[in-house]
Amino acid sequence: MTSSVTSPAWQTAPVDAASRQALTTRGLEYRTVSHGDLAAYAGWLQATARGFQDGERNDDHISVNRELTAYRRLTGVFDPAAPVADTPVATLASWIAEVSAPGGRGIPSCAITSVTVAPTHRRRGIARAMLEGELRAASAVGLPMAMLTVSESTLYGRYGFAPAAASASWTIEAKRASWVGPRPDGRVDFIPRARLRELAPALHERTRRAWPGEIEVPAGHWDTIAGTRRDAKDADKLRAVQYTDTQGEVAGLAAYTVEGNDDDFTKAAVAVVYLLTATDDAYAALWRFLLELDLVATVRASEQSVDEPLLWMIDDQRAAKVTLRDHQYLRILDVPASLEARSYGAPGRFVLEVTDSLGIADGRFLLDAAVDGTATVTRVADDERPTDAVKVALDIRELSAAYLGGVSLATLARAGRVQTTDADAAARTFGWHVPPRLSIWY
Ligand SMILES: CC(C)(COP(=O)(O)OP(=O)(O)OC[C@H]1O[C@@H](n2cnc3c(N)ncnc32)[C@H](O)[C@@H]1OP(=O)(O)O)[C@@H](O)C(=O)NCCC(=O)NCCS
Repeated sequence: MTSSVTSPAWQTAPVDAASRQALTTRGLEYRTVSHGDLAAYAGWLQATARGFQDGERNDDHISVNRELTAYRRLTGVFDPAAPVADTPVATLASWIAEVSAPGGRGIPSCAITSVTVAPTHRRRGIARAMLEGELRAASAVGLPMAMLTVSESTLYGRYGFAPAAASASWTIEAKRASWVGPRPDGRVDFIPRARLRELAPALHERTRRAWPGEIEVPAGHWDTIAGTRRDAKDADKLRAVQYTDTQGEVAGLAAYTVEGNDDDFTKAAVAVVYLLTATDDAYAALWRFLLELDLVATVRASEQSVDEPLLWMIDDQRAAKVTLRDHQYLRILDVPASLEARSYGAPGRFVLEVTDSLGIADGRFLLDAAVDGTATVTRVADDERPTDAVKVALDIRELSAAYLGGVSLATLARAGRVQTTDADAAARTFGWHVPPRLSIWY
């Protein structure tokens, strides 16, 4: 299967038969919705907005959204007895995108978004039917992984998802922080938003595989970040800068807004909308630029990794308040394919006994991690007991949580969520030295 944010075969793949049947017995219709049909798309989008307790979408927004999300597979659940029967009572969208694994490779993954159930139809098992259905459909076409970002942390564990990359939000007292980091020789320049939109995709492509957890960013996301959507609101507040290194190559981009403070002109607040850097120099130069802006008291940035060099580039670490939150959720669908796609921190031999309440990825697997960081993973029979292997018994949630190296298997063992005969060995092998992160929401 090729990995790409456009996949016509996935868009039109039939919905899962078991979920369709389960919903049919409740008098509901579960089906895909075509982007090509404007009325159907508009109804689906209005239902999604309503599901998120948001207002009605106008024609302009519908048309822009339709253009920018044409790569997505849309599914809906319809209630033929409802007064407006062609507007779905539940929605879900998905597409195929690569997620970066430890070691610099990417793995095709089913990105899921726009999960809503109308308040009139909640708590009847409709979301469960759609999520189980989409996961089975993704597994049926050979996708090894599914992923999402969430509105509430409690929703998706029951389907095998787990937080695999946390995000850090920073609030920095700029004047107090005091820059002690490098002062690279390149230059920082303002650029128009359109230029940011032009440069960001290639720079992200250049860097994303180095960061476990980052995904291929769909084109429309760049328009939202750069404020270049036709229907963008407040885009004029966005400022964009680039860092150009001494060879003349653009190696970093930052987009930010400034909220003035009429009571005290020296206390404006900067919100970093997006920061994308391909080199340490670009990282240092752009952070220094942001922290040293005149008239600015506070700089906020979110969707950072949990281990940012920035902390070591300011003199007063207490000038920064850092809060962590679950962010990138993963759900392994194919254990051998997923585990062979990543690299490992140390060699080792493990028998993984994996449970999965949806029956998609459970089984016993032998993982042999070599000195070069690669691993082979094979399914083993129930009666096979390799004596030299460390035993790890865990649910697909915990395996997914540990996939990017964001949490150690030893920590999960101490939390009572993993049973193992050697927690230290498991932690060493499944650990990774680059903290996972995801710089967008989807
Ligand atoms: C979240 C939402 C999709 C759930 O839809 P639903 O059809 O009511 O969910 P279901 O009836 O299928 O419930 C499935 C399970 O999730 C649980 N659940 C549902 N909503 C929950 C919530 N907000 N918090 C915790 N558990 C929840 C149910 O108790 C049920 O548990 P079980 O099957 O393990 O016993 C729906 O409430 C919604 O649209 N919320 C607003 C939009 C939103 O936040 N969407 C998620 C975007 S990431």
